[in-house]
Amino acid sequence: MRLKSLLLLVGLVMSGALTLSAKVNKKPAPWERETKMEAFVDSLLQKMTLEEKLGQLTLFSSSWDITGPITNNNYVEDVKKGKVGAIFNAYSADFTYRLQKENMENTRLSIPLLFGYDVIHGHWTTFPIPLAEACSWDLEWIEKSARIAAIEATSEGLHWTFAPMVDIARDPRWGRIAEGAGEDIFLGCEIAKARVHGFQGDDLSKTNTMLACAKHYAAYGVAQAGRDYHTVDISNRELWSTYMPPFKAAVNAGVATFMTSFNELDGTPCTGNEYLLDDVLRKKWHFDGFVVTDYTSIMEMTEHGNVKDEKEAGEVAINAGVDMDMQSGIFNDFLPTSVEEGKVLTSRIDEAVRQILKMKYRLGLFEDPYKYSDVKRAKKTLMKPEFIKASRELAKRSIVLLKNEDQILPLNKNIKKLALIGPYVKNRRDLVGTWSGAGKWEKAVTVMEGVEKAVSRKTEILYAEGCKLFGDDRSGFDNAVATAKEADAVVLMVGEPHDWSGEAASRTDLELPGVQPELVKEIVKTGKPVVMVMMNGRPLTIDWEAANVPAIVEAWHLGVQAGPAVADVLFGDYNPSAKLTVTFPRNVGQIPIYYNMKHTGRPMDPNQKFTSKYLDCPNSPLYPFGYGLSYTTFDYSAVELDKTTMGANDQIIAKVKVSNTGKYDGEEVVQLYIQDLVGSVTRPVKELKGFKKVFIPKGESVEVEFTITAEDLAFYRKDMSYGVEKGDFKVFIGTSSQEVQESQFTLTQTAPIAEK
Ligand code: BGC
Repeated sequence: MRLKSLLLLVGLVMSGALTLSAKVNKKPAPWERETKMEAFVDSLLQKMTLEEKLGQLTLFSSSWDITGPITNNNYVEDVKKGKVGAIFNAYSADFTYRLQKENMENTRLSIPLLFGYDVIHGHWTTFPIPLAEACSWDLEWIEKSARIAAIEATSEGLHWTFAPMVDIARDPRWGRIAEGAGEDIFLGCEIAKARVHGFQGDDLSKTNTMLACAKHYAAYGVAQAGRDYHTVDISNRELWSTYMPPFKAAVNAGVATFMTSFNELDGTPCTGNEYLLDDVLRKKWHFDGFVVTDYTSIMEMTEHGNVKDEKEAGEVAINAGVDMDMQSGIFNDFLPTSVEEGKVLTSRIDEAVRQILKMKYRLGLFEDPYKYSDVKRAKKTLMKPEFIKASRELAKRSIVLLKNEDQILPLNKNIKKLALIGPYVKNRRDLVGTWSGAGKWEKAVTVMEGVEKAVSRKTEILYAEGCKLFGDDRSGFDNAVATAKEADAVVLMVGEPHDWSGEAASRTDLELPGVQPELVKEIVKTGKPVVMVMMNGRPLTIDWEAANVPAIVEAWHLGVQAGPAVADVLFGDYNPSAKLTVTFPRNVGQIPIYYNMKHTGRPMDPNQKFTSKYLDCPNSPLYPFGYGLSYTTFDYSAVELDKTTMGANDQIIAKVKVSNTGKYDGEEVVQLYIQDLVGSVTRPVKELKGFKKVFIPKGESVEVEFTITAEDLAFYRKDMSYGVEKGDFKVFIGTSSQEVQESQFTLTQTAPIAEK
């Protein structure tokens, strides 16, 4: 330890801010640790110069991975000069150790660096993309996936992930729909909590837990026309009813950090939005973590046009409540002058530094800045067999069976000749999907490899690529058709490349890219039993395919175990149980389309011209929210309520009996929806308010019970107060948002309800 670090430590011990190491090792109770932390941070803050403070508020990317403009190539020099408190896009135990060392040994106060990264769906062991994981409706597995990601990432020196993305997304043109949980508010909140818990665990000072980050705050998913970074203009009611709840859920789950979004909201870019950051996040929600901007989004305010230059952008951002500047370098460059001019108060800067130092303290970095960078641990941890097994488990749970005419699936493992056709059969690179930075796609198992392992030794596998994922080359069609003709059944592997969803990947046409739709038609024409398996990052418009291909499987981008997971489902080793968490439109013209829309004053009537509908397409989606088939069938009894009236402090128990009437054991996601028939403001046609995933052996039944309380009925009323209004409610329980049994009850009281 260098002399100055030693002096700092001695100083802190003498000031009583830091206990002696013997005591530190005893692990104080959480409240004790928090009290000590406050004293420690106070004392450290007093020693810091303005420049050192601004360094702590600065996050720079390494030159490894980048997703935006490169604003700084000298990050190592900046680290040594104390001009940066956190680094992202750099990992590995060795590299983080060395950079931390440069920092500790060259800076006056030796404040440890924080290492962040987009650990979105796994680290080395890639899991299904978040949208796919959400389709499992399996909170335990979703949490486990984040937990494993944290275990791997922290072994490589990372302390902080820029996840979960909790943006509700209802526009499949927007490529980032792949990164979230889908279109629903209730499910979005549950998944946000599961992911935060998964990353952060129950104790941030453990070396296998990391800071999570709720992003992108707020309403980023409502970019006009689905174009990334585009304008957002929605009502305050819509903001609070739909887009804010998952962020609040993340705060309730103790999320450590928030990331601002690129978009504007009501004319103010979210990175300079005092209402969102200060009034709501700090004052109303009492968020006790720090806020980072998205990549260069302070700088981007000059493009938005709400500030005249970068200096003003920095002032607007920090004064609004931003604590850390990702990649603009604007806090470093301009805030000293702004402070001098009195445009930014030192107290505001201190507040921001305090939040960041507190997180470094909670991670245990002041005790040992190198504790996460452990080469030996990394070796033992990364891509452990049990993690790979977990990835396969969640992957098969994320696959949605969309169509299964004549029970083509599951395929018989003894099938004589099976043709695997399409650009995804041997594709390895794209299986891991978007945001899989550290993911070892080279170790992903292809569908060909998965199927080869699953079928009997006597099965002959035929193969033809047919065409590429995109482009207009049809030269492989003839061979593909000939191959299909030779086989007893065809598995047609199609989809989107991994980088056609995620950031900056908006599309206006949602068909399978390139000539894949033509390939599908050619193969279907052969009359062979065809199973189309799709690997993509968003809902695609597959109207023709849905009508003409006998079996369709939505496999998404499943991660490193995509091949085995697809084989598990194709051959019935796993009976699919996933359900869509986002609506599939029939065509792009229907977008936005989601299950919990409003009625309108002229609900659709096919026989009346002047009702809310299209001339050329039904209103209904191709596949609705909550939809997904199984190899077995489930029968629902009528909904039984234990009473038909309730007061605001009461509850009603809703029950159904679900029977497995088919030939396979299976899991079913039993979904509860509620509709408020009349409100002081118009209410959605139904809203998800509960779900249970139950395993039911064939021939057996289970009773599924939901408890409905006033919390489930509350909404932002006419005056924007949160509460319930007396009146009639419908209860729906079923297998999707559209196939439900219903009943009705009356709420007898109007009352305010505490916001969740
Ligand atoms: C994305 C964020 C991401 C950040 C850092 C941005 O372009 O919008 O989601 O966390 O880059 O990589």
